Amino acid sequence: MNNKYFYRSLLLIYATVFSFLCKAQKTIDEKVDSVLKLMTLDEKVGQMNQYNGDWDATGPITPQGDKQNQIRKGMVGSMLNVTGVEHTVELQKIAMQSRMKIPLLFGQDIIHGYRTTFPIPLAEAASWDLEAIKSSARIAATEAAASGVHWTFAPMVDIARDPRWGRVMEGAGEDPYLGSLIATARVKGFQGKGLGNTDALMACAKHFAAYGAAIGGRDYNSVDMSLLTLWNIYLPPFKAAAEAGAATFMNSFNTLNGIPATGNKYLQTDILKDKWRFKGFIVSDWNSIGEMIPHGFAKDNYDAALKAVTAGNDMDMESRSYIQNLAKLVKDGKVSIQRIDDAVRRILKKKFELGLFDDPYKFSDKKREQQQWNNKQNLQAEKIMAEKSIVLLKNEPFPSGRAGMGILPLNKNNLKGKTIALIGPFIKSIRDNLGFWSYTWPDDSERIISIWEAIKNKVGNSTNLLYAKGCNIDDTSHEGFAEAIKAAMEADVVIMSVGEAANWSGEAKSRSNIHLPGVQKELIKAIYATGKPIVVMINAGRPLIFNWTADHIPSIVYAWWLGTEAGDAIADVLFGDYNPSAKLPMSFPRAEGQIPIYYNYFNTGRPAKNDSDLNYVSAYIDLPNSPKFPFGYGLSYTTFSYSDIKLNSTILRPGKALTASVVITNSGKYDGKETVQLYIRDMVGSVVRPVKELKGFQQIFLKAGESKTITFKITTDDLKFYNDKLIYNYEPGDFKIFIGTNSEDVKEAGFTLQK
Ligand code: GLC
Repeated sequence: MNNKYFYRSLLLIYATVFSFLCKAQKTIDEKVDSVLKLMTLDEKVGQMNQYNGDWDATGPITPQGDKQNQIRKGMVGSMLNVTGVEHTVELQKIAMQSRMKIPLLFGQDIIHGYRTTFPIPLAEAASWDLEAIKSSARIAATEAAASGVHWTFAPMVDIARDPRWGRVMEGAGEDPYLGSLIATARVKGFQGKGLGNTDALMACAKHFAAYGAAIGGRDYNSVDMSLLTLWNIYLPPFKAAAEAGAATFMNSFNTLNGIPATGNKYLQTDILKDKWRFKGFIVSDWNSIGEMIPHGFAKDNYDAALKAVTAGNDMDMESRSYIQNLAKLVKDGKVSIQRIDDAVRRILKKKFELGLFDDPYKFSDKKREQQQWNNKQNLQAEKIMAEKSIVLLKNEPFPSGRAGMGILPLNKNNLKGKTIALIGPFIKSIRDNLGFWSYTWPDDSERIISIWEAIKNKVGNSTNLLYAKGCNIDDTSHEGFAEAIKAAMEADVVIMSVGEAANWSGEAKSRSNIHLPGVQKELIKAIYATGKPIVVMINAGRPLIFNWTADHIPSIVYAWWLGTEAGDAIADVLFGDYNPSAKLPMSFPRAEGQIPIYYNYFNTGRPAKNDSDLNYVSAYIDLPNSPKFPFGYGLSYTTFSYSDIKLNSTILRPGKALTASVVITNSGKYDGKETVQLYIRDMVGSVVRPVKELKGFQQIFLKAGESKTITFKITTDDLKFYNDKLIYNYEPGDFKIFIGTNSEDVKEAGFTLQK
């Protein structure tokens, strides 16, 4: 077939497909318009109204009112916290009695799992494993969609540089680059092959925007920052979520530079809907419209509704401001019907895309719900995700241990006939392992694996296990110490599990003091004093401060909150069945006084040369500037050595690429995975630039003794930033490249970007 004929046929095929797709797309738009034009103003406002279900609550409860009757009258477009085939069918049937028969949307906080609970999102972020993170969201969507949920209020993509803020547990940490990749992975995981599939959930990028910068790390507090910081640090993960096709956004409780996000036109309309061309809809956070009154931005709910809808907020979660005021605002000429129609179109479009008009009950399928109820593959995937999330912080030789070797991994065979003492308030914890934003099921006590259970299963009868709680999570009593010390004295090795309670992180869980609570540090000291080989595991939903432990205990593991299979994952790591590979997604401070602390800081005009330089430099006189553990830090049971960086050139020209290579060698005794990190520094800019910015990473698996060359390609796209005119571009000049195992331990090279 000659080429001309071939290309003509191809063109004809494209044109046919394109017009069909346009017709299909136009069909949905047409359907939306055909519904819209039949609706009364009250019914349109009803679609913009969302209530909490009567079965669960994730915010301060407002007067219940007769929701079912309002659904019947078409005054409700969506419900949240209604899950399960039974409840969703019950309410959907009532919606089908309304005049317009517009199906309800059911939204839920499926943050890190539903029936199977995955590690908290910050722990998953520590895996740096984007495929695993996407798969975790995919499984969560499959389970929740089988139970009638259409829409998850996730991913939470707030950049967080302040571990006092309890919601750091819900996001991906401090870095815009890693945060953007994880936002994309989670949106794609939740939405799967696309809306309309019965295993897909609408994603919801939240909380728009800059919620993680709440002053003092105090939840719901004000946020004040330059537009430079907003655009270079806090917006990138939201932009990535929008580009990944997130169906919805949720605005945040905080003010941004004096204007509540819910009433912030710059955020919701200028940036999201206009500049980023977002076609989905924006839901407020729980009563955040009404909260513009205490913010002092609205004088009453009528004013709050006006400011929110004018700013671009499409749906009102639980404040009742829209349902009680929007129709009057239109009749008063304060809000145009065009703005109402725009919001309702956006909402109806998602309902059509989900297929709810064709079948309002398509997600409420008892058989599918039962299939997902005990899906063994999901549990296996959860354990693997949990293993990938565990960070090995330290594993140094112990005085009485094997020469030059850390205690970990424990050797099952060597422990045959020996005794392990398991000590600490979390050793036998069950529900705590799920962390905040998790669901309680009747069979949790059988289904969730505690550390105690898991290690018992791991060692069988060959090793004797002793248990002592030692102390409570947070009180002053030492009465459990004697029993714990006795257990340690009788043991050959001690495993401790300490930390903060699972409900000490999450929403409205800010802490001014992020040290180990109660007398846990004293307990660790007392057990350390026995001279026994000791491993300390720390469970938390945030970076904690544990300097004494970090300085004295030879083997330390950060175990976050790891979900349903937590115990088995921890046991696999402790006994070497999984070689830890995770890397911290947040800097760990030495003291609250260092917060906010992050690796991509500005150099200042008087940078400290090192941790002891106090000669008129930007430093504390009582503490080093550096974190206790830096961003990107995490050890392995093996060691990886890095060659110097080899550049294919020290000159980069626009439109070209520069390559930077290093040879990584597994120089230890265990096969293992390493996350090789690439950072770049722009030495001089029209605005000051961070001393480092993560611009790439590659995960490699190397057998003991194996070497591999890792190459990064760098183009001007990697060098762009928002300047003081908010223009996103690169600037010629000198740059440094850093490649290493974390943000501090790096090899360095330099290049020049020419005009
Ligand atoms: C909460 C949270 C938000 C959540 C919503 C619904 O207040 O801020 O993240 O999605 O209410 O539960």
